[in-house]
Amino acid sequence: MKSYKLFSVLMLVAILMAACTPGGAASKELKIAVLAPLSGPVPTFGEMTRDGTLMAIEEWNAKGGVLGMTIVPIVEDSQCTPDPALNAANKVINNDKVHYIIGEVCSKASIPVSEVANAAKVIQISPTSTNPSVTVDANGVTKPYIYRACFIDPFQGLVGAKFAMDNLGAKTAFVMVDQANDYVKGLAEFFKKAFTEAGGTIVGEESYTANDTDFSAILSKVADTSPDVVYLPDYYNIVNLVMQQAKEKGITTPFVGGDGWDSADLDLNAAAGGYFTNHYSPEDPRPEVQNFRNNFEAKYDGKTPDALAALAYDATNMLLAAIEKAGADDTDKVRAALDAIEFSAVSGVITFDSAHNPIKSATILSVTTDGIKFNSVVAP
Ligand code: PHE
Repeated sequence: MKSYKLFSVLMLVAILMAACTPGGAASKELKIAVLAPLSGPVPTFGEMTRDGTLMAIEEWNAKGGVLGMTIVPIVEDSQCTPDPALNAANKVINNDKVHYIIGEVCSKASIPVSEVANAAKVIQISPTSTNPSVTVDANGVTKPYIYRACFIDPFQGLVGAKFAMDNLGAKTAFVMVDQANDYVKGLAEFFKKAFTEAGGTIVGEESYTANDTDFSAILSKVADTSPDVVYLPDYYNIVNLVMQQAKEKGITTPFVGGDGWDSADLDLNAAAGGYFTNHYSPEDPRPEVQNFRNNFEAKYDGKTPDALAALAYDATNMLLAAIEKAGADDTDKVRAALDAIEFSAVSGVITFDSAHNPIKSATILSVTTDGIKFNSVVAP
């Protein structure tokens, strides 16, 4: 009886030591949270982001993990919406004790998450949130722990405006905007600025909300003003509705948009004839892109990776490379490694400016009834 008790106590001590000692079983894991909009208005964004991240993590684990640790993903549904995204961020930071977050996709969710992550000294890399306020606070100060893997919207808006003018011959534009969506609002502003500075005229601007389903009043104004292009920098769910209704009204004006159009659920029949700026094209012949595409398709039943999958894969690989370079699971060392990184990603080489934004090229894609086609690449 006595020896049995002693044995139990010793066992307990051994278990506790294994859990607490560096090198013990429990410390051999590195958790990475993935905040992805798996439900809500834009589920393809979430699925592709999750799948790109998980593929990168599996590849690292197959090579032995990072710094001897197995990488454990914690995937949360952040819904492209501020409150669910904040709840997910608080959960992974406070309960799961993660030091690293990949996500969110949507700027309006990434911005509030960045405040919480930065305050907790948790590194957040948004693969795809393009609004400037993700990495920079209201006073213009860079948030030390927040990064992204994509270009930002002043550049994306400029590329859209230049394309409309130089390639579509546009002199007039009509802009549609959801004022409550940071991404849409910002991109619309940057487009207007670039378009007017280059000598174009904005002949109409109309606002709608994310809950609207009937765009006929706005589309009547488009028909009345007959602009050379309509700029619609929203996500695919809204683009589908607006362009279906434009088609029914017989509007043939080309629509131009941004990365938010990128989805397997973009309605090709409705959106055909449109163009959008993006981060990547799966048709890009560079071997980095084609290797990634082939591996992704092999892993996920032939599903072609879009820009969200590519950038999630890039953001995760870049984070793990920085952790390896830092030599420790220490977010101050890892952010120093990120500041100095020159990372060769699927979507191009990433180096950070002082606002933690990569300087990268944009790709222009055109929508046809039989798919989204590569058009051109525009360097910064
Ligand atoms: N750039 C968008 C945002 O900031 C998100 C997005 C990126 C959507 C890439 C689709 C493709 O909200």
